[in-house]
Amino acid sequence: STHFTIAIDGPAAAGKGTLSRRIAETYGFHHLDTGLTYRATAKALLDAGLTLDDEAVAEKMARQVELVGLDRNILSKHEIGEAASKIAVMPAVRRALVEAQRRFSKKAPGTVLDGRDIGTVVCPAAPVKLYVTASPEVRAKRRYDEIRGKGGVADFDAIFDDVKRRDERDMGRADSPLKPAEDAHLLDTSEMSIEAAFQAAKSIIDAAL
Ligand code: C5P
Repeated sequence: STHFTIAIDGPAAAGKGTLSRRIAETYGFHHLDTGLTYRATAKALLDAGLTLDDEAVAEKMARQVELVGLDRNILSKHEIGEAASKIAVMPAVRRALVEAQRRFSKKAPGTVLDGRDIGTVVCPAAPVKLYVTASPEVRAKRRYDEIRGKGGVADFDAIFDDVKRRDERDMGRADSPLKPAEDAHLLDTSEMSIEAAFQAAKSIIDAAL
């Protein structure tokens, strides 16, 4: 076939986003940050003043989400991330978004999808699967530094609690919990620079291409 899929999963703030964008750029592949599809659905519900507790309402919104032009800057707010992880436990919401993500994954010449369930559910046949992780402390520190770097005010303890709570929700849910696919390459970036993580990923991809 004429498309090659790279599946990248891992917990919040592990560096998947940066890594995925760089890989997509390097190989000239299309990139989809699937977290944005959950965030866009959640934001649309919040903006419309709709409840986050009604699965049928949330599914309808999920089916209206456009995958192109999703912007992390607009969707980065903490409340949106929390709301996203709440509607992400709903099977009907996941079904709707996974269908759209699978269609995206077939674009030529190749695609990079990153999220929580790409290697396990969305693209289980992907020839390259990476599971990118780092300790909760390191991930909280990176998020803290990122906010401070932009001149913002950040509370490390609050961010740390947040990272742990999100992990629990993402790993503990019944439908498509966050976990590495059996054939995923594990990439623990706790003590790795972004550059080192990229080089490690590149060797894995080059060997499979
Ligand atoms: O990656 P990001 O933090 O933007 O994702 C927001 C939330 O969307 C996650 O905490 C997770 O609950 C959900 N999500 C998911 N499956 C994906 C991507 C994100 O359940 N493939």
